[in-house]
Amino acid sequence: MKPLNLFEYEKQAKKCLSQMAWDYYASGAGDEITLRDNCAAFTRIKLRPRVLVDVSDRQLTTKILDRPLQMPLLIAPMAFQCLAHPEGELATAKAASAAGAGMVLSTMSTHSLEEVARAYYSPTPTAPLWFQLYIHRDRGLTRALVERAYASGYQALCVTVDAPVLGRRERDTRNQFTLPAGLQLANITTRSGLNIPSQQGESGLFTYFAQQLDPAVTWRDLEWLQSICPLPLVIKGILRGDDAARAVEFGVKAIIVSNHGGRQLDGAIASVDALAEVVAAVDRRAEVIVDGGIRRGTDILKALALGAKAVLVGRPALWGLAVGGEAGVAHVIKILRDELDWAMALSGCAKLEDIDSSLIVVSR
Ligand code: GLV
Repeated sequence: MKPLNLFEYEKQAKKCLSQMAWDYYASGAGDEITLRDNCAAFTRIKLRPRVLVDVSDRQLTTKILDRPLQMPLLIAPMAFQCLAHPEGELATAKAASAAGAGMVLSTMSTHSLEEVARAYYSPTPTAPLWFQLYIHRDRGLTRALVERAYASGYQALCVTVDAPVLGRRERDTRNQFTLPAGLQLANITTRSGLNIPSQQGESGLFTYFAQQLDPAVTWRDLEWLQSICPLPLVIKGILRGDDAARAVEFGVKAIIVSNHGGRQLDGAIASVDALAEVVAAVDRRAEVIVDGGIRRGTDILKALALGAKAVLVGRPALWGLAVGGEAGVAHVIKILRDELDWAMALSGCAKLEDIDSSLIVVSR
């Protein structure tokens, strides 16, 4: 049966995936408290609908970093999408592009960033395509990734800042997570980066991060990135107003309020609970986006009411990919778009600008 909502996609996806792939995608760090709280936090926010508003004609279009979006939604960067479907990131890119949704491609993709850009930009490029960057110890390699992303038409560099080391994801440790034969880190062409080694007693990704990624990265590295690339910087993984304000001072153009889908610091605040503080600190000097726990159109409405310009959606897109490839991702995007449209109609909002903080109340 065709799934009706994102939870049904999740159930079906579980049946399509190997245990190792399912655990990798579905799990969070530690006791998975933050993973669960990302969703639970949305249920604590209640809506205060407005009535007797003409909502016969509804507008879901917006802009992010000056690029048009058909709905306030981008697909979050997620690694190794060929674990879910042979077309992996290419299918996700085609579905997002056709829907006029944005996409952020992970450094750890299983199709090369050049191939994904070609898939996204064909035939009609409109919405934002960004490249998510992990800063490697090898700055030459990092620089090469940045230069390739720029040359391929990515419109922003989205630097993940919440992963100086990889979170302890015990399900991956138990499975000694590794990439199956035939899959590889398509963007990393040095010998050391060619694959995710399985190591006795440890997740291969954990080992890769420990060996290759730089835990010494600081704000100064943002200046270095700006000196080597003209693309706007987006920072992903901010949960505090003071960090958000600092990012703006460093010239960051968009901030993604995120706890990495509960995969890094377990016990961290739910992303949507951190949103209001970040929005206030940024004070319209940059765009604010949120990810983590978005499963319904009403969740997008709540995020926008708290001041987000758009949301990133991660795991649900993977569930769509696992169940139906490009068509599955397209359907997940359509479900969220339709649900947001209904939620707007039912809360008296004809356009995104009508969504404001008066629409919500937070119950503890
Ligand atoms: C990779 O970025 C991950 O969070 O697994």
